[in-house]
Amino acid sequence: GRFHGDNYLEVCSGPSIHGTISASKYFKNILMSEFAPQNRAAIRAWLDESPKAHDWSSFFKTVANFEGEGVTPQSVEQRTRAAIRGIAFCDLTQEEPIDHEVLFKYGLIDVIYSCLTLEAAAETSANYGRILTKLASYLRPEGGLLLCGMYNQTFYSVGGNKFHSLSQDEQTIRRLLEAAGFSVVEHFTHSFDHKAITTDITCNPSKYFCLVAVKNQE
Ligand SMILES: C[S@@+](CC[C@H](N)C(=O)[O-])C[C@H]1O[C@@H](n2cnc3c(N)ncnc32)[C@H](O)[C@@H]1O
Repeated sequence: GRFHGDNYLEVCSGPSIHGTISASKYFKNILMSEFAPQNRAAIRAWLDESPKAHDWSSFFKTVANFEGEGVTPQSVEQRTRAAIRGIAFCDLTQEEPIDHEVLFKYGLIDVIYSCLTLEAAAETSANYGRILTKLASYLRPEGGLLLCGMYNQTFYSVGGNKFHSLSQDEQTIRRLLEAAGFSVVEHFTHSFDHKAITTDITCNPSKYFCLVAVKNQE
């Protein structure tokens, strides 16, 4: 209800479509993006209905139940596939992370969603701040940023492969958001017991956060 418009951008989805399923109820044009070619290939396989694609049916079922009467998992799946316009290459360390022709095909972006990505891509707080400023430039005034991440996490590992994570506290992230022209309007945190989730993921955050920020009027 807070945000309106047609254009939704997910900044670095990994190999997953879960960030687009509920969004497809509200946004006509969903552009996904991702750095790693194998992750982009996994998304394309699902878009092309390849038999090799990951099975997301339990997610469609959950969203259909959540949306209520008359909504079926099949209709949610079809809606999601129809709304996704493509998956673009994105390298957040570059001056222009996403090709503008692809990015602005349908106009300025109304809402950006990014989960667990900025801390993976940014080596320093200055880099993290520059990425936020770039994301703000993609949005129309009063557009929304849905940002999820980890506070105070120095690494994460998946299947024994260890990855960098920029460790920052809540105050630092709030300061960087403000400097980039955002106002935080909602903020949630969850304690995180990684042992309870899966055996092949390890990480060391103090908290998982999700926040909603609005791009200030220029
Ligand atoms: C922990 S995963 C999160 C994936 C997904 N957003 C999710 O929530 O499941 C971190 C993501 O950051 C991406 N990433 C790492 N370096 C990047 C860079 N320089 N530019 C853009 N994305 C990058 C990885 O490819 C990966 O998709």
